[in-house]
Amino acid sequence: MNSLLAGPPLTGPESLASHAGRLGPMPAVGARFIDTLVQSRIAGRGGAGFPAGTKWQAVATHSRGDAVVLVNGAEGEPQSKKDRLLMSTRPHLVLDGAFIAARVLRARRVILYIGERHRAARAAMLQALAERNETERRLVSEHAAPARYVAGAESAAIHFITEGVATPTTMPPYPFERGVDGKPTLVQNVETLAQVALIARYGEPSGTSLVTIAGGVPRPGVLEVESTTTIADAVSLAGGASDQARAVLVGGYFGRWMEARDAWPLRLDQGSLRSHGLALGCGVIGVLPAGRCPVCETAGIMRYLAGESSAQCGPCFFGLRALADACTRIAEHGTNRDDLQRLDRWTEDVRGRGACRHPDGAVIFLQSALQTFGREFAGHRPHSAAEAA
Ligand SMILES: Cc1cc2nc3c(=O)[nH]c(=O)nc-3n(C[C@H](O)[C@H](O)[C@H](O)COP(=O)(O)O)c2cc1C
Ligand code: SF4
Repeated sequence: MNSLLAGPPLTGPESLASHAGRLGPMPAVGARFIDTLVQSRIAGRGGAGFPAGTKWQAVATHSRGDAVVLVNGAEGEPQSKKDRLLMSTRPHLVLDGAFIAARVLRARRVILYIGERHRAARAAMLQALAERNETERRLVSEHAAPARYVAGAESAAIHFITEGVATPTTMPPYPFERGVDGKPTLVQNVETLAQVALIARYGEPSGTSLVTIAGGVPRPGVLEVESTTTIADAVSLAGGASDQARAVLVGGYFGRWMEARDAWPLRLDQGSLRSHGLALGCGVIGVLPAGRCPVCETAGIMRYLAGESSAQCGPCFFGLRALADACTRIAEHGTNRDDLQRLDRWTEDVRGRGACRHPDGAVIFLQSALQTFGREFAGHRPHSAAEAA
């Protein structure tokens, strides 16, 4: 079956023998594979949803046999678990994708960039690598990605590997022009690379996506869903909303809050979500139960995102902190008109003013909260200790 998690039980890394027995050997694709990738319309699964084929074309154009393939398994989004699960259970699918990229793009190096806290995933990837042939093994080095939200951004990954500092850098130059050690670099999420391995075998992607269902459900965790699966279907596979759901956060911390009733019928498919002005992002679907305070929830996430700024760009560092403080004041002391007005004004001051997308993602999230929870933000009262517990 053409799916990412098909195969043996998801209890540990699949061996090379099992993987090759199930899917056959890695296909020997050449430069024309890029056309297949473009036609497949596969989009990146690390968050930005950028078409993989376009990225490969750009790296191929710049490669002089010296390109670098950077396998992004940082998974810095706190609620996301899908990249970890994929690396821990189907490491050879990810490695196949990386080695196919290396062959097609004439890369001399493959870098595994895996979150330092994702120990099982790192161990599984290294165990799988040890099973590969020497030519493949010689291409690879492994780097532990620092456990910071922005460390997973592509320029931060390149910066870390080149200079040991996991902070984003200004683009241009883009990774396909000057990436790791100044070489043209393909940065690709692990799920995207696993899809590449399937496209190379079957000519098309699986048509499925990995999503993490988080928050108020009895069985939070990772699901592989078809493009026809709705958010309601996925939440019911996770045991259904445990409390009456108030809202759903679609796409993780850079995503958007929606009224639960509006979210249920939406299909978990990048194209379909885009037509509703949404993004699948890193695939997190967070369910907010009716009993939880949306203002406090939003303030908590804004504080986290403000704390994760790499403090290099003023509007991001000071702006996100000011927005988080205003949200926190409303959450802790109740609504005041000045802070509400500041939230509207300051989001506009922050948007588009950072070297990376961190502040933009945070203000998209905040604006969706102000829209979806307008009533609660306009009339918030501080919670008593008993309510807050
Ligand atoms: C602040 C920030 C954090 C990010 N964190 C991750 C991450 O943890 N993992 C990831 O794959 N991509 C992450 N991304 C997206 C990467 O910059 C990049 O777009 C992605 O790795 C490219 O692979 P893809 O096209 O296959 O999605 C992040 C982006 C930003 C702006
Ligand atoms: S926008 Fe924020 S997170 Fe991105 S580089 Fe600037 S300070 Fe760092």
